[in-house]
Amino acid sequence: LLSGCGKEKDYLVVGTNAAFPPFEYVGGVSGDQVMGFDIDLARKIAEDAGKTLKVENMKFDSLIVALNAGKIDMIASGMTITPERQASVDFSEPYYEATQVVLVNKQDDSIHSLADLAGKHFAVQLGSTADIMAKKYTQSVTAFNTGFEAIMELKNGKVDLVLFDSEPAANYLAKNPQLKLISLDFPPEFYGFAVAKSQPELLASINKTLATIKQNGEYDALLAKHMK
Ligand code: ARG
Repeated sequence: LLSGCGKEKDYLVVGTNAAFPPFEYVGGVSGDQVMGFDIDLARKIAEDAGKTLKVENMKFDSLIVALNAGKIDMIASGMTITPERQASVDFSEPYYEATQVVLVNKQDDSIHSLADLAGKHFAVQLGSTADIMAKKYTQSVTAFNTGFEAIMELKNGKVDLVLFDSEPAANYLAKNPQLKLISLDFPPEFYGFAVAKSQPELLASINKTLATIKQNGEYDALLAKHMK
């Protein structure tokens, strides 16, 4: 029914960057399983489409390329819907509202407003909305393949701050008590699942699943399971 790269084996092949808890991370009993809120949603989407979910973990900035090369059928990666991305892929209806936050070392008391970000040395995830936004405030931005590496850089005192999505930032903060989180007046961002523009049937199927689970309580149950 739904065409795509996973067609032959009846797989829905989903691309993600699994260093973004609680949306996607590597864990489980074996320690090598990709799991999280996005993955549970993707599994539901796959089931409704009569497919088995297969997850491909890759670099965040490779996801759109992989999608348009037909290597994956869908991106489920806490990806913010932006007009720039909409030029090359189609997004589902938004399924989560987030925003950027700032992480600094606990003793740093220099940031109270967006204006205080000017000229700071930022660490970000390569290709993320934070990466793009950082450049509005400073010329010194160091980009890493994962937010986790950006946070390591902050802990090592190599940068002033990390700009990162709110939920994963809070999640990493819980394991790094030497850091603190600062909420500033950043705009809301809406996450969507992305598909190739050649896959309108898959897009419709994703939106149908989202509408159904928002209606029947399954979406809220998954939120409660993953968001602490
Ligand atoms: N929401 C941000 C963006 O779309 C960051 C997403 C990072 N996701 C990930 N799985 N690492 O650019």
